[in-house]
Amino acid sequence: MRLADLRGRPIRDLRMSVTDRCNFRCVYCMPKQVFGAEYPFLKREELLTFEEIHRLARIFVTLGVEKIRLTGGEPLIRREVESLVELLAQIPGIDLTMTTNGSLLPQKAESLREAGLKRISVSLDSLDDDVFAVMNGVDHTVERVLEGIEAAHAAGFMPIKINMVIKRGLNDGSILPMASYFRNSGHILRFIEYMDVGGTNGWRFDEVVPASEIVAVVDRKYPLEAIEPNYHGEVARRYRYKDGAGEIGVIASVTQAFCADCTRARLSANGSLYTCLFATRGTDLRQYLRNDTSDDEIEAIISSIWSQRNDRYSEIRSPETARVSKVEMSYIGG
Ligand code: GTP
Ligand code: 5AD
Ligand code: SF4
Ligand code: SF4
Repeated sequence: MRLADLRGRPIRDLRMSVTDRCNFRCVYCMPKQVFGAEYPFLKREELLTFEEIHRLARIFVTLGVEKIRLTGGEPLIRREVESLVELLAQIPGIDLTMTTNGSLLPQKAESLREAGLKRISVSLDSLDDDVFAVMNGVDHTVERVLEGIEAAHAAGFMPIKINMVIKRGLNDGSILPMASYFRNSGHILRFIEYMDVGGTNGWRFDEVVPASEIVAVVDRKYPLEAIEPNYHGEVARRYRYKDGAGEIGVIASVTQAFCADCTRARLSANGSLYTCLFATRGTDLRQYLRNDTSDDEIEAIISSIWSQRNDRYSEIRSPETARVSKVEMSYIGG
């Protein structure tokens, strides 16, 4: 285990949830037994407005942020999210990207592109409708997501990253069909180890399929070779098909934690700052946006929180820490 002193890592990456709601109920993220009709989702007035998000984004950029990812919940169900994209796209030099479940991309891909979104990642856990339905908890079809990926491609997003969370016994049988489907497509399939996010997904270590096992399964059928990361601190380990059919990635956040290089800040849809995906509490920044605090003062507040940060949850994960209730992933984004 790496126990590096983690203070002083820069903030490079800002992940912003724009809504805590989703039209899916993935078993590993928002299990429907918990996120039912009675669940206390945020009210409209609690959400940051687009102007407030834009203001915070500019402040984060002065602190060093280079990449902004819009997440959720499902970002495409936030009303007129394209207008937010348009605002954020005006900030110079920002890699503006989004993680979506893809179901609304058929109608939104083009307007997102026009608004200035640069990249898209789409979550898809299986090509088998029955497995997919069990995983996403609603009856959205695989077809719809594939149409969304196609629409994004047609709108000019290329390559698209396809995020697949693997849960043993549920969709480990979908690893090879997914690899076959996305080979030669130009898109990048990424296999993600199932994590103990939030407090409600009932995570068990024996349901995690280690990245090494995933790579071995793919490699047996389609030989792979490791390739260099695109940038320092990239969460995915990259592999190339030896026959030239493209690349895949694995995100080994459980078996090979990457906290030492973590430069990611998270902002919830109601404006709280979280310094780790597994944090138990955040800091309310919305109060400052709504009480005349100046940009410089907000910058100093964020800077002070960040300089005290020593998060390394994935390095210290244990059955005991897994039982502690963390902030829900749908609330602060994947
Ligand atoms: P690029 O900007 O394209 O390089 O994206 P990325 O490789 O950073 O991937 P993305 O942000 O889409 O993250 C993919 C998945 O990795 C997420 O859905 C999470 O499951 C996991 N992940 C991302 N960031 C973190 C993190 O800070 N901690 C942990 N434990 N997991 C993370
Ligand atoms: N483990 C790993 N990744 C998760 N995501 C959501 N829940 C989990 C989990 N328990 C990620 C998926 C999805 C994104 C929105 O969040 O990658 O694509
Ligand atoms: Fe929705 Fe994404 Fe969570 Fe699934 S993983 S419930 S699509 S926010
Ligand atoms: Fe960063 Fe926390 Fe994820 Fe570690 S567990 S990589 S500190 S967000």
